[in-house]
Amino acid sequence: IFTENEALTTHLSSFKATKKSIGFVPTMGALHQGHLSLIDKSLQENDITVMSIFVNPTQFNNQEDLAKYPRTLENDVEKIKALNTSVIIFAPTVSDIYKENVVSQKFEYDNLEHQMEGKHREGHFNGVGTIIKRLFEIIKPSNAYFGEKDFQQLQIVKKLVSKYVIPVNIIGCSIYREENGLAMSSRNERLSKQSREKAAIIFATLNEAKELFKVKSAKEVIEIVVNKFKKTSDFKLEYFEIADESNLLTCKRKDKNKSYRAFIAVFIENIRLIDNISMQ
Ligand code: PAJ
Repeated sequence: IFTENEALTTHLSSFKATKKSIGFVPTMGALHQGHLSLIDKSLQENDITVMSIFVNPTQFNNQEDLAKYPRTLENDVEKIKALNTSVIIFAPTVSDIYKENVVSQKFEYDNLEHQMEGKHREGHFNGVGTIIKRLFEIIKPSNAYFGEKDFQQLQIVKKLVSKYVIPVNIIGCSIYREENGLAMSSRNERLSKQSREKAAIIFATLNEAKELFKVKSAKEVIEIVVNKFKKTSDFKLEYFEIADESNLLTCKRKDKNKSYRAFIAVFIENIRLIDNISMQ
């Protein structure tokens, strides 16, 4: 476990000298099976695996969400120890990463940042870009692993490394789900048992939308989903979109040559949950 940049870079330099591949899994902690599936993939594909645990303040547009974000470092370390293999944990402090200046750099991601999460969480992707670029500079990984759970983030990180010519492969990993289909998330910890069960509606809706999309237009599917959520008082739908996977633009007219994905964000008990599904 490293908490300081310099000690970590010194440690990693010996591996770099012998050309060992470094896999990197950035996280904000409160680890669950979704995170562990990324770590597992990195362990399989690299000589060394580094993971970071850092609740990045600049990507939160809501101060209450930042304050309430679960911080469970000791527990997280136990979960990594239980893997019984060698994983380097980097858990820096805010001042280590940002010094006195806890602000984001500004990024442009060819319009990806203006869709969905970007529309609803102002400055979020500037915060994500700032921390990911910083972590890549410190760790210099060969491969970095990101979940499709945050599909827009995955596309944005791919854009970041191509625009800023950062030499790292970005690898997308499939969504890990609870038994009832709810996508695993650190925020699920904050749900009551009842809400956690009810939240199965999110993945069920995505599957329904996928079926409907075979015979209906995107506009019609969106209308059906919006109406469904109007009738469910426990949930507040923030957005439901069907978009082109490559540029995240809303599907206006179906094009056989494009791959589409449905994206959803809902509030339950004031907790914001997101999910998505490939429409292919
Ligand atoms: P966090 O939400 O902790 O997620 C860390 C990584 O785990 C992300 O790549 C995310 O997509 C992935 N992940 C989360 N839940 C998953 C699931 N159910 N199945 C598969 N992968 C899952 O995303 C962040 O942190 C931050 O924005 C970060 C990239 C660390 C930058 O601060």
